[in-house]
Amino acid sequence: MSTQQQCGYILPEDFLFGAATSPHQTEGSNIHSDWWALETSERSPLAQASGMACDSYHRWRQDMRLLQENGFNAYRFGVEWARIEPEPGVFDEHELDHYHMMVQTAASMGLKPFVTLHHFTSPLWFARQGGWAGPDAINRFGDYVQAVLPVLRDGVAGIVTINEPNMVAIMSSVLSGSAALQPGGLLPDPDPVVARRLVEAHRLAATLVHESLPGVPVGWSVANQCVQSLAGGEAAAAVYSAKVEDYFIRAAKEDDFIGIQAYTRTVIDAQGAKVAVGPDRQTSNGWEYYPQAAAQALMHVHGLLPEMPLVITENGISTIHDEQRIAYTEAALCAVGELMGQGYPVHGYFHWSLLDNYEWGNWQPTFGLAAVDRESGSYERIPKPSLSWLGDWARRAMLPTECRHDAGDDDAEGKE
Ligand code: BGC
Repeated sequence: MSTQQQCGYILPEDFLFGAATSPHQTEGSNIHSDWWALETSERSPLAQASGMACDSYHRWRQDMRLLQENGFNAYRFGVEWARIEPEPGVFDEHELDHYHMMVQTAASMGLKPFVTLHHFTSPLWFARQGGWAGPDAINRFGDYVQAVLPVLRDGVAGIVTINEPNMVAIMSSVLSGSAALQPGGLLPDPDPVVARRLVEAHRLAATLVHESLPGVPVGWSVANQCVQSLAGGEAAAAVYSAKVEDYFIRAAKEDDFIGIQAYTRTVIDAQGAKVAVGPDRQTSNGWEYYPQAAAQALMHVHGLLPEMPLVITENGISTIHDEQRIAYTEAALCAVGELMGQGYPVHGYFHWSLLDNYEWGNWQPTFGLAAVDRESGSYERIPKPSLSWLGDWARRAMLPTECRHDAGDDDAEGKE
């Protein structure tokens, strides 16, 4: 599909247009991390392990080239705490150099680095000390951030301190066994202690960034559920949204931006349960096909923090049909462009993901703009048509305005 004849919404010059990855999901052999321990333990609840992942630890230049050659101007990637500080207080210079090289190389290739400091994984020693609930968690995270900041000095365009703190707090309550079952498949409540710790850790990290790298925007990225309701479910939807995301969105009020991560929606019925979605409306990982998610999330967050600069740090679809990825993304971007036309302060869009990568327990979901030949062991990157399709929009610094595909069913009420 070509963008040749399509007109578009013209983006501001400094708009960040890229794709995103995370270290554990792509680098491979993250052996000092808590997730590696979980994946490889004898009684692991996870179906599959990350193993060599996409071997991006060695092939990160290829990954960057894919973005550069296809017209993007930014790359969201992460630095891995477990590699940098494999033992408490022991900072690995070699790994710090590795990430310094990544930042410098991206910047020299014209890809603005947007760097995540914590993307779900922690060093195993940190987990053994109680993880985010541990007594010294905040200072430990602060020490790591302090150590890593010098590496980020050369051209970083933005820093995400913690990826999806709401999901981290929810996973903590699941892993500690304290998660209460919710009606109809809703997410369990976030662990309140961990939630508070994450906010404090984030505030500390943001202060350290401002001190060490003045002018570099810092924020965190929240998983947006796009909570909506059917008639009679409004109150339950408001309570749910307040717990699983609004607390974390409001905690960003002093930040330079907030990262928005949206894929699908959650619709709540009059009984307070999640409305099930038929297989014909599901993506390959079982989520509802809902390309309006990014725009809905922007509206929700903008409603809570009206002045806050917004960056879409993740949006995408797991599908084996790449034309469906293009259709989804086109509809998502049309809706985002429309909001920007109305004055929404959107400063960037990062597609999840550059690569088909390890999806936290299994390899089935395929979110990538490029596949990776893991089976043969070549780890060759195999671009899908969506990579050049999206890159064309990035190169032209435009968002599509003509939505030629299914924009998504919209039978529920937005909460706002
Ligand atoms: C996470 C990614 C994940 C993606 C798709 C986000 O929750 O930040 O690590 O792969 O969603 O599930």
